[in-house]
Amino acid sequence: MKKSLNIAVAGLGTVGAGTLKLLAAQSDLLALRAGRPIRVTAVSARTRGRDRGVDLAGVTWFDDPVAMAREADAEAIVELIGGSDGTAKAVCETALAAGRHVVTANKALLAMHGTALATTAEDAGLTLAWEAAVAGGIPIVKALREGLVGNRISRLQGILNGTCNYILTTMRETGREFADVLDEAQHLGYAEADPSFDIDGIDAAHKLALLSALAFGAAVDFAGLHIEGIRHISAMDIEYAEELGYRIKLLGIAERGPGGIHQRVHPAMVPLAAPIAAVEGVFNGIVTEGDFVGTTVLEGRGAGAGPTASAVVADLVDIACGRRAPTFGVPARRLDTVKSLPMDNHMGAYYVRLMVIDRPGVFADIAASLRDCEISLESVLQRSRAPGGVVPVVLTTHEASESAMRRALATIGGIDAVREPPHMIRIERG
Ligand SMILES: NC(=O)c1ccc[n+]([C@@H]2O[C@H](COP(=O)([O-])OP(=O)(O)OC[C@H]3O[C@@H](n4cnc5c(N)ncnc54)[C@H](OP(=O)(O)O)[C@@H]3O)[C@@H](O)[C@H]2O)c1
Repeated sequence: MKKSLNIAVAGLGTVGAGTLKLLAAQSDLLALRAGRPIRVTAVSARTRGRDRGVDLAGVTWFDDPVAMAREADAEAIVELIGGSDGTAKAVCETALAAGRHVVTANKALLAMHGTALATTAEDAGLTLAWEAAVAGGIPIVKALREGLVGNRISRLQGILNGTCNYILTTMRETGREFADVLDEAQHLGYAEADPSFDIDGIDAAHKLALLSALAFGAAVDFAGLHIEGIRHISAMDIEYAEELGYRIKLLGIAERGPGGIHQRVHPAMVPLAAPIAAVEGVFNGIVTEGDFVGTTVLEGRGAGAGPTASAVVADLVDIACGRRAPTFGVPARRLDTVKSLPMDNHMGAYYVRLMVIDRPGVFADIAASLRDCEISLESVLQRSRAPGGVVPVVLTTHEASESAMRRALATIGGIDAVREPPHMIRIERG
């Protein structure tokens, strides 16, 4: 058998320890598939004495992961520390400077520095691999880069954050409000103590920026993304969505438009029959549209030790076999610097819920505001009557521009009988 692929692992938390466990459990199978054994020669984490459920006998310990990236007996460094800057970035840069391949699960780092790191790696003839950074165990990077390589991708949409999907699914199943379900998710370990990266859409946006770069052969442009989270979604909107034949999901959507790429993360209503509507709980799902293949759907576990380790190891086997591909599918120096289009250019249908005083003439004022912005209504729903009291009125529109919709909502929000700022959710075709 050929010489082993020696690797050094920086970070022994959920993913790092999970990766070591998978490598130990599947060593024979992996040696057969990779054509040579994969051997962990060095590791680094913050706390040396901690029991991580893995056997570290014969493995060199480094207190400093950057020194490990420079000095370890390893062809590849696996960065599983996390964070967009600081130690993780230094580990990757040092590894590449020392002529070692890098495998990382770090979407925050790549969303900020992906193009620069890819350029450094490719100039040095090295691999920078990141299957584990997006959608955990779902092999979406390989699918886009290899399986779908013969296609131009026109659109990609995904449920890219399991925490948000768990919260939205539980709100729908139990009728409970967002804050209550978030609290429970934190107790169950599905949400972090500081959940803002997840629930404000940042984590999904990091992943979308990377998938978009890969799908369109474009430089990573995190700053060009429109990002909204799920804090404002209420149990009432989820109930209305079901009544109208939709399900609410936090979606990451990237699509080619005339003159640029739309990249957006926001809650959206998708038809109940759409494949993505059926992706529930902590699962992730991604739908791609290719010009020859048509629609492709992938679903699976987007996080956790096992699924994420599965993706890390897939990258390691590629390195062991000598399978090489540019980080974002095309050479980093040839990535397109195409513009990300502003959200105002978006065209789509909208759901709007208004809390209005139930009295004659109010609806005429609302309809006039929409008409003045050239927005046409598809449906109007008022379930209850409470003369003089406040009732919900739900509108759905035909396709309109985001800028027109924002103008109309500003006017409607100023109508005396409209008692809360309008609640708007975009409707997607799924
Ligand atoms: N968790 C998931 O399901 C998942 C899924 C996909 C991608 N990811 C990504 O994978 C990466 C790792 O995530 P994780 O959940 O495994 O994180 P984690 O459980 O918090 O583990 C982080 C590890 O990094 C070590 N570390 C932190 N700072 C260090 C430093 N300065 N020097 C040396 N070691 C240091 C920690 O050491 P100690 O253990 O000694 O504290 C720990 O072992 C992140 O980029 C994350 O976004 C995670």
